Amino acid sequence: ASAQNRLIINTDQGKTTISRHIYGHFAEHLGRNIYGGIWVGPDSKIPNEDGYRKDVMQALIDLEIPNLRWPGGCFADEYHWTDGIGNPADRPKMVNTHWGGVTEDNSFGTHEFLNFAKRIGTEPYITGNVGSGSVEEMSKWIEYINFDGVSPMADLRRRNGQEEPWNIKYWGVGNESWGCGGNMTPEYYANEYRRYATFARDYGGTKLYKIAGGANNFDYNWTEVLFKNIPLNMMDGYSLHYYTVTGTWENKGQATVFDKEEYLETLRKAARLDELLTRHSTIMDKYDPEKKVGIIFDEWGTWYQVEPGTNPGFLYQQNTMRDAHVAAISLNIFNKHAERVHMANLAQTVNVLQAIILTNETDMILTPTYHVFDLYKPHKDATLLPHHLVSEEVSFGKEKMEALNVSTSKSDDGTVNISIVNIHPDKKIALEVVLRGMEAKNVRAEIVTAPSIDSYNTFEKKNTVKKAEFKDFKLNKDNLTINLPANSVLMVRVK
Ligand code: AHR
Repeated sequence: ASAQNRLIINTDQGKTTISRHIYGHFAEHLGRNIYGGIWVGPDSKIPNEDGYRKDVMQALIDLEIPNLRWPGGCFADEYHWTDGIGNPADRPKMVNTHWGGVTEDNSFGTHEFLNFAKRIGTEPYITGNVGSGSVEEMSKWIEYINFDGVSPMADLRRRNGQEEPWNIKYWGVGNESWGCGGNMTPEYYANEYRRYATFARDYGGTKLYKIAGGANNFDYNWTEVLFKNIPLNMMDGYSLHYYTVTGTWENKGQATVFDKEEYLETLRKAARLDELLTRHSTIMDKYDPEKKVGIIFDEWGTWYQVEPGTNPGFLYQQNTMRDAHVAAISLNIFNKHAERVHMANLAQTVNVLQAIILTNETDMILTPTYHVFDLYKPHKDATLLPHHLVSEEVSFGKEKMEALNVSTSKSDDGTVNISIVNIHPDKKIALEVVLRGMEAKNVRAEIVTAPSIDSYNTFEKKNTVKKAEFKDFKLNKDNLTINLPANSVLMVRVK
């Protein structure tokens, strides 16, 4: 059986760095993500620091999230930033038409977001409004945030209490311009992009990293048209989105109730990320053979029916071990494409879609997905290592997949990091690992697992799925045998 499941790692052959930004996040003005999840306001009874929820802030600090995208999503293309600055009592209110038709009081605006990013030590990534905004509006927002000299916008910022510019780098020019961002054709958007990007200026020493709005899923024509029509020196990043939907968009599966066949369907669909990245990258290679433009995969994750009894516009869903597997497989795939993928952002941070954190009025839980991001920390900024994996298959009903999924990297201190997913719901698998090109002496491992593929954490039982130390392996010279429990994600570190 050992020969059936075999991993060979070429520990001396890495060349590409896995950007830590692949482990990024996304918080939109949607449901209880910002309001209630991150921001409760300084007068709230919920323990907070100047309006930011303390528990959530600490969980994000602990996770060392590298970046946070804001304010949308679809919301970005109807957001007018000037409504969200100045005295909160004087800020105009608006309707959040995309997400539940609720009133947005603009109490969380530019200052609140950028100061939050600073407190949790993450890089902000802002998406500007192309769909219902103007070139002038976007250009002034950048001046407001980044200009250090004397100008109408920099002076306004100072009057609003922020002396120094924030010097932010990542800037998105619209969101899903093929859909909620304006229903544009790729030809039309390419021209719009050129116009908006022209007036998105660099100030001082901060060079903006400008991100063009990319294709929906498998729309390869969008990529082709954009790369044909936008000069390479006008864009740094190209955004892509892909959601894992079980069933169909019209009739999505549930977050916590599913059988093994549906489980495999979800994971198979998540793994299509590999095909999608390969095909978009192939088109980009034609126009950009030196791989100057990075793929910014700024929305990904599972999308199920909302939890019964919750607002359908709020996209609140639970998160099980199945989601942990989706996260682990997706992150393994992003790592594999690290030469082209410069950033990825899970949708979304708190209380929305494949959230890493769920909150109620008084409490917070960490989801299985949070624990996978925690487990995968060693991959951040490590060097991708080539490997060869032979895995047995698992099948239920008409679904079939390889049971194991792997990513390998090397840290600066020479430690080899192996993330391994065993998606099999009930079979322990012995994996034989050959570490070519190193003398292994020391092995440590951690695991995320739970009794069942549909196990999840609740406010009553917070630790059904959690991270733990793992010891069921044996090192014999350059051969390592790992007994992978069923339904588990591991990080094995060899030195
Ligand atoms: O993440 C939820 C929504 O999905 C985003 O607002 C939008 O960009 C995408 O369609």
